[in-house]
Amino acid sequence: MSRLAGKVAVITGGGGEIGSETAKLFVQEGAKVLLVDIDEGKCKRIVGEIGGDAVSYFTADVTKPADVQAYVQAAVDRYGGIDVFLDNAGIVGDVAPTHDFSIENFEKVMAINVVAVFVGLKYVIPVMIGRGGGSCILSSSILGVRGTPGLTAYTTSKHALLGMMRVAAIEYGPFNVRVNCINPGPLESGMMRHIEKGVAPIATMAMGVEVTAEQIYALFVERTPLRHYGTVKDVAPVMLFLASDDSRHCTGHFFLADGGMSA
Ligand SMILES: NC(=O)c1ccc[n+]([C@@H]2O[C@H](COP(=O)([O-])OP(=O)(O)OC[C@H]3O[C@@H](n4cnc5c(N)ncnc54)[C@H](O)[C@@H]3O)[C@@H](O)[C@H]2O)c1
Repeated sequence: MSRLAGKVAVITGGGGEIGSETAKLFVQEGAKVLLVDIDEGKCKRIVGEIGGDAVSYFTADVTKPADVQAYVQAAVDRYGGIDVFLDNAGIVGDVAPTHDFSIENFEKVMAINVVAVFVGLKYVIPVMIGRGGGSCILSSSILGVRGTPGLTAYTTSKHALLGMMRVAAIEYGPFNVRVNCINPGPLESGMMRHIEKGVAPIATMAMGVEVTAEQIYALFVERTPLRHYGTVKDVAPVMLFLASDDSRHCTGHFFLADGGMSA
């Protein structure tokens, strides 16, 4: 299949678990992909794994506007423009009840998960308009539509992306630039192991009996109607849908890939 033939995709957090799996699928579907990440080692490995000349990387800290401008320019110089922008780099931050949550960590999560996503849109959208349109996908989460104890900064940040997405979709629809959110549920990943470990003591405190990280994992499966703990392979095809012309009439919306957990 070549649902992205001739398209150029930029993926921030491209060295991470979701970003790299999506990059593999995008390349298989005919796209040229620029991975953007602060971690050069991860990007090098993924570019090596994918092979060929359809993928390359750019090392950048997405919280630095000059770095954002530089990765946008790199995509233009190497591939001629940007058609698909997966604005995906993100962190969980601390896991702690709101009254114990550090202000510094809250600000750090917002800087990466919200401000940097906005700066990405700010510099990518004009390039897309110059090319006649494009698709922007913001990595929100099931925690963009519901809450969970211990994750005030992360949950706030993922809710914020829905507002950012809606405004940009309205502003740039007339220019054929679509903006949507992808909202995965828990996925087998380092990020979720960090969350399960952090949520366990908070659940222990709330319930008065010891709750382990393994029990939190089991609870997530129990609360998922499809009874499957998601994986990056469950999400990458949704990214492909949003990136491709199959979703040409979809903008300003969020797309849950959560096994029904939020239902
Ligand atoms: N893993 C899940 O279960 C899950 C569920 C819902 C949403 N998400 C969201 O999907 C996105 C990707 O998650 P993932 O599981 O691939 O995480 P990950 O930790 O594997 O990947 C995130 C990547 O972002 C990069 N990054 C962090 N700070 C950066 C910065 N300042 N500049 C540039 N790069 C930076 C990291 O180096 C890492 O490679 C995140 O926004 C996350 O919140 C993940």
